Amino acid sequence: MRKNKNAAGQNAFSMITVDDDELMTSALQAYFQRSGYQVDTENNPVNAIERVKEGHYDILLLDFLMTPICGDKVIEEIRKFNKDIFIILLTGHKSMAPPLRTLRELDIQGYYEKSDRFDQLELLVESCVKSIRQMRQIRSYQSELNIMYQTLNDNYMEIITVMRTMVDARDEYTRGHSDRVAALSRKIGEKMGMSQQQLSQIHLAGLFHDIGKIGVPDGILLKPGKLTIDEYEIIKHHPQEGERILSALTLFKEIAPIVRSHHERVDGSGYPDHLKGEAIPLHARIIAVADAFDAMTSNRHYRRSMSIEMALDEIRQKKGTQFDEQAADAFLQIADEEDLQLYI
Ligand SMILES: [Fe+2]
Ligand SMILES: [Fe+2]
Repeated sequence: MRKNKNAAGQNAFSMITVDDDELMTSALQAYFQRSGYQVDTENNPVNAIERVKEGHYDILLLDFLMTPICGDKVIEEIRKFNKDIFIILLTGHKSMAPPLRTLRELDIQGYYEKSDRFDQLELLVESCVKSIRQMRQIRSYQSELNIMYQTLNDNYMEIITVMRTMVDARDEYTRGHSDRVAALSRKIGEKMGMSQQQLSQIHLAGLFHDIGKIGVPDGILLKPGKLTIDEYEIIKHHPQEGERILSALTLFKEIAPIVRSHHERVDGSGYPDHLKGEAIPLHARIIAVADAFDAMTSNRHYRRSMSIEMALDEIRQKKGTQFDEQAADAFLQIADEEDLQLYI
């Protein structure tokens, strides 16, 4: 007999017994009720399908030989809408039992040859109960995991918003620059056939490519005139500073190297590592094109913006030296097809 019943003598599992022999269903009901199960009975196999559909049963004890339809047909119908219920097929005398092949093909959890003692059957039911418990446990872990994932995702979005606000708050001239660079970089990535995952990554890297400027003093960042060599050296430190800030957050680890390399040039004349060609991460080569275009077409403290045509000429001229050829070509193709005014 089952041990872990609640105070009312019931356990948390319900079953339905289906047999066209009423004596059998009554005997099974009485036996398993004594063990604490909630037990319903049904003597018509056709009605049994509807009963399972409407009820919330954990276990089905099902006779094989019945009229007008046999147990295998009942299982076939039930499995169309319920994959979870545990089914134990009951058969009469050995000679009446379905062949082993049929039993294997049926989606059942156990098979029991009827006898006047139900203790063997009870063992089978108990092993089903163990599996049901495990299944419930897994489902509850899954739903906890989903909640945790959702919370993590919400936190992630909050961090992004806070960090972007921090960057934008520094400098009204560059406000919106990161958004535009992110959008344009993504557009170039699309043109180059990048995957959705790569596109999300490039977008994020575009949003934070200049985050290292947080560490640049106002006197330099907001200086209206031309920068001295020393001041320019300080500004030039922002890619490493950005990498340092982003590396501290697991969520941004993957974009940190892209941010470090966004001022590299394919001929090796960029900074901070003087990387050449494909040694520069592809995402960084793309961001470099979008970044230069946006910088050229925006007003800055120290100069007025240039026209879209002039900026495109500059990119054409410096393709293969400053800019990656593929990224520049993809961008120039976008310029042919779309009005870039929408991106500045
Ligand atoms: Fe930058
Ligand atoms: Fe930038």
